Formats: sequence, structure tokens, C-alpha cells
Amino acid sequence: MNLVSIEKKRHEAPYRQFVEQYGSPLLVLDCDTLRTRYRELQLALPNVGFFYAIKSLPEPAVLVTLLQEGAGFDLATTGELGLMRSVGARPEATIHTHPIKRDQDIRDALDFGCTTFVIDNIDELLKFTAYRAQAELLLRVSFRGKDAAVDLSRKFGCGRQDVPAMLAEAAQLGIRIKGLSFHVGSQSMTSAAHVDAIRACRPFYTPGAFVGAEHLTVLDIGGGMPVDYTQHVLDLNEFCKPINAALAEYPQRVRIIAEPGRVLSAPIMKSISTVMGRALRGGLWWYYLDDGVYGAYSGQIFDHAEYPITVFSDDAERHPSVLAGPTCDSIDVITELAMLPAMNIGDIVVGEQMGAYTLATACEFNSIPRPRLVVINR
Ligand SMILES: Cc1ncc(COP(=O)(O)O)c(C=O)c1O
Repeated sequence: MNLVSIEKKRHEAPYRQFVEQYGSPLLVLDCDTLRTRYRELQLALPNVGFFYAIKSLPEPAVLVTLLQEGAGFDLATTGELGLMRSVGARPEATIHTHPIKRDQDIRDALDFGCTTFVIDNIDELLKFTAYRAQAELLLRVSFRGKDAAVDLSRKFGCGRQDVPAMLAEAAQLGIRIKGLSFHVGSQSMTSAAHVDAIRACRPFYTPGAFVGAEHLTVLDIGGGMPVDYTQHVLDLNEFCKPINAALAEYPQRVRIIAEPGRVLSAPIMKSISTVMGRALRGGLWWYYLDDGVYGAYSGQIFDHAEYPITVFSDDAERHPSVLAGPTCDSIDVITELAMLPAMNIGDIVVGEQMGAYTLATACEFNSIPRPRLVVINR
């Protein structure tokens, strides 16, 4: 469940200013926080090249800021490719990471100039026979991290035991597999799964050990780095220390890359919503906000996320309360049974860490528009 904290009413002022200027509900995206976060990640993983996972927050302001920082981009669809094209990204700084693609998707990416693709099975490998002169592949391997909130190795990735046969088949077809990739799951609470996967991939990088091993010059360690939601997570440096130690066992010729999404996008956005109605039902105060799980809080459904929420009041008394969203659907509840001060129509509610998989998955159910995006510190 989301965690609600209560702050003094005077702390509401900066958020009220936003609402007065732009209306409600809002998502406020801070490009300065993104710059800081990107630089922290670079320091925490100094020998890793980053390809931002666009899917977590596909906003042009994010892409432009990261372009200026020199980041690369992980795109997975022709739509995301269009976004990269629209912000003027260099195609060489993009990788296409969807393990399952239509022929048209491959052609669109090659047309743009993106030449690195991910595959995880023979049928997908065969699709590249026609493009072997241009395309280079990463073979995604499945490693299921038990500490992750979102399992991304259930749906994608070949078994470790399948790697030699895939490398051999690619060599036979004249298709270049230049490395292995994995994603141990999103919001991974420890780096143990990253470390295990990095170690498990290491033997494949010994030339002569397997057919095609001599061509492996890249290792892609995916995403999965966690952020503080309602549970405190390891500091980024602490999280990355064991990863760096495991990566140090790779030869110099192997370029290490990663596809971070959440760790960059989550902390850069706050949600601001407003109480638009209230009702006392069976002893419970129901507060209806103008944003909910079909809007900025969609990550509650799609991303298994629980957000730190703040309300503002000087009252000492607390009452059992529910924070609900604006749609007619009963699933649209943000927080059940929180002990909250009495709130009024017009009061403001703030959600933190709301950049990743929130706006990206919001929809317009009940014809309620998505929250307005306000970008600051461009
Ligand atoms: C292929 C791929 N790469 C990277 C990411 C980003 O992962 P995270 O947000 O955990 O960093 C995802 C998330 O779904 C993904 O599917």
C-alpha cells in the first residue's frame, strides 16, 4: 500500500503555486534531478555505457536532457524509434532491445541507422538472415531474480544451456552475435541477481570455449536498479559495488552496457492532485482526488509500485480514510485505510518518485485526460 505522510499546511504552498499556474492534476518533471541522477549512475558504474530505457518515461524533455548528457537509448518499438528520431538522436547511440520483432520493425530500425538488436530464440535469429550485412545481435539470456518486483525473465530470454547452440547456429548462418544481454527484473532489491548473471555469462566470453565466443565483445546487464518507494533500498553505490567487482572479471575487450529505466526516471517526477469531493461512508472518510490509478497512479496496477504520498494539515486528529481516484471504477483507489487528518475539497495531495511507468501507462478511461505534464529546469 502507498505510504501517506502528513506535513504542516505551510509546506503545501509550492505545490499550490503549481496548481494555480497550471491547474490540477499535474506531473512535474525536473530535468535537473535527471542530470544529477544520470551523473550519480555514471559514478556508481564507472565502466558502463548507458542506454536509457525509453519505455519507463518516453518524454521528449527526458530524452533531450539525456542526449545532452551523452547517454545512449534503449528502444523497443517503431514508436519509440520515432521519438528518438524526433529529438535528433544519433542512431549509433541506440539499441533495439525487443526480443520479438516484426520484419517491419527490423527494417524501420535499420532505416533509422540502429544496427544492434536483441534476440532470444532461433526463429528470431533467422529473421536476421536477410540483414546479416548490417545487423549485430545481442543474445538475451533468462536469469530470474527473486528479489525483483517485476519479473522480466519469465517472458523473454533463452536458457543458459541454449547459448552455445545459438552462437553456433548464428556462426553457421553468418550472423554476428556480438554479446549477451539479460534483465534480472525491475526494482531489484539487491544486486545479487545481477552478480550471478554477470558471473554466469563470463565463461561464454573465453575465446575458443564455444563456437562464436571470439565475437563476443559486449555484455548488456539490462536495468533493474531500484529506487526508494515506500521501502528503503540500498544506496546506488552500495547496490553497484558488487556489480563492479563481478564486471572486473571480464577481459578489457568486452564493452559493458546497461539499459537503466526506473533508476533514472522515477525520482524526477512528482504528482500533484487535488481533493475534488469527499463522503463519509460506514465510518470511513472517502476522499476523491482528480487523479488515480487510470492516471499518474497507473503504476500501482501495471508496475506493482507503491508510492510515498504526502497530505498537508495542521490538525492533530486522525480518521480512517481512503484516497480514491476520479473514475467510476471501484479499482480506482490509491490508498485504503490510512489514518489521515480531516481534508477539505481543494486540498492538495503529492505523490513522490512518480516518473517511472506512471505517465507511460496512464490512459483516459472515463474520458478523463491524463495529468498535465509540467517540465522544469530544462
Ligand atoms: C528490455 C528492457 N530493458 C530495460 C528495462 C528497464 O528496466 P528498469 O526500469 O528496471 O531499469 C526494461 C523494463 O521493462 C526492459 O524490458
